[in-house]
Amino acid sequence: MDFEKNILCIGAGYVGGPTMVMIASKCPRYRVVVVDINQEKIRDWNSDNLPIYEPGLDDLVKKTRDKNLFFSTDIEKGIKEADIIFVSVNTPTKTFGQGAGKAADLQYWERTARQILANADSSKIIVEKSTLPVRTAKAMERILNGSPKEISLEVVSNPEFLAEGTAINDLENPDRVLIGSRETPEGMRARKEIVEIYAHWVTRDRIIESNVWSAELSKLTANAFLAQRISSINSISALCEKTEADIDEVAYAVGTDSRIGPYFLKASVGFGGSCFKKDILNLVYICQNYGLEEVADYWESVVKINEWQERRFINNMLSNMFDTVAGKRVALFGFAFKANTGDTRESPAIYIARGLVEEYAQVVISDPRALENARKDLKDLKERVTFEMDPYKAAEGTHSIAILTEWELYKDLDYERIHESMVRPAFIFDGRNILDHKRLFEMGFNVFAIGKAPLKHF
Ligand code: NAD
Ligand code: UGA
Repeated sequence: MDFEKNILCIGAGYVGGPTMVMIASKCPRYRVVVVDINQEKIRDWNSDNLPIYEPGLDDLVKKTRDKNLFFSTDIEKGIKEADIIFVSVNTPTKTFGQGAGKAADLQYWERTARQILANADSSKIIVEKSTLPVRTAKAMERILNGSPKEISLEVVSNPEFLAEGTAINDLENPDRVLIGSRETPEGMRARKEIVEIYAHWVTRDRIIESNVWSAELSKLTANAFLAQRISSINSISALCEKTEADIDEVAYAVGTDSRIGPYFLKASVGFGGSCFKKDILNLVYICQNYGLEEVADYWESVVKINEWQERRFINNMLSNMFDTVAGKRVALFGFAFKANTGDTRESPAIYIARGLVEEYAQVVISDPRALENARKDLKDLKERVTFEMDPYKAAEGTHSIAILTEWELYKDLDYERIHESMVRPAFIFDGRNILDHKRLFEMGFNVFAIGKAPLKHF
């Protein structure tokens, strides 16, 4: 079959994989190839055991793989054959040199740009799918225009807004798709080509066009705003605990104001995930570079409140368990940074587990999807941490349970049975406010939730 267009995606991770699966399924006349330097990952994409867990992903892969969707490690061939190249490599926080701890590490992105330049022998559109500092497209154009060949490599920004755990639905029914380009004739032509892809399934009113800098900056700003709402509600959760106000009632009352809206107001042990912290710190770094110290400080406080919330959770556990957890078994229910994913990057659970181990607790970790990643995250703590898929077994002989991920299954456990198997007094710290606290208290548990008055028997 002759395909209308050849699309390549460099980077087969949480974004590149699902996004290309969706494009392949909605655009059967396009040939979509996803490449990665990680051979193991590509092998898994070509198997029945996909490298990421995402509800609905398996079915879509089965429908498209080896028809118009292909996973490969041959990056150079992929570049040569492609008309449009999405770049979805990781852009983590820099850990070295200037900007360490804040700036985005663009080495993977730049390496990819140079690889495109070296292998391209026809004109192509290069799409920034990764989240990048505003004005990265300028730097990329400088690299890509260094070609002596008579070809054009036009850079377009198309940031991704999917959230993990709901990626397939987010991709299929996006609030919006954002496409930014230069406003030159070539830039506008490239923009139109990318619009055409999404127009296969997204209505035109949801495809936003802008200049390339606005697109880059909107992505960082959206993540900063979302994280800011969580830090805002979490900061108020601390005040609730002092005043007997209830954070869920406050969030509901505040969120019913249509100007504020109900989303992203769920108080928690803190936000995790690979992007919120890294993208805000990147925004902070950019502002500092432009001499906008007040703006930088404002956004940095969102991250600081989050770190404080995580610390507060551990301190709360300690002070309520008679100021010591040394030698006590503590079960963590949930290790993923949110439900419906196995991803543990920047999960508050990592910080909580490490904090408890520092206090000499014996930590048992349970999670339906994230134990493999949890083992990797805590591999240096082997002696003090064990892993147990079955939450009933994980809770046996423990002094306390901390709920760290809002998995549905934790709501429906037989907590009478769990209470029976625990050391008394038994504690539950609900870091996600998902349990029926009053019922647990009546069973005999001492219950501590986020932003609520404690329910304790002493
Ligand atoms: P990821 O780590 O899951 O995937 C990135 C992949 O790129 C890895 O598999 C890595 O091996 C590959 N890679 C790195 N350098 C390469 C190279 N030179 N050639 C080929 N492959 C290379 O990361 P992710 O979560 O998919 O995030 C990718 C980008 O998308 C980041 O900029 C992130 O900020 C952004 N983003 C992520 C999410 C999310 O939910 N995870 C959502 C929106 C945007
Ligand atoms: C987030 C954004 O929601 C996406 O739009 C964006 O594309 C993505 O980051 C990215 O750029 O990587 P994600 O991190 O996958 O998506 O998941 P979220 O649903 O945003 O949750 C992030 C963290 O905030 C989780 O730890 C979650 O438990 C926490 N959270 C979320 C709360 O504590 N309270 C809330 O009300 C909402």
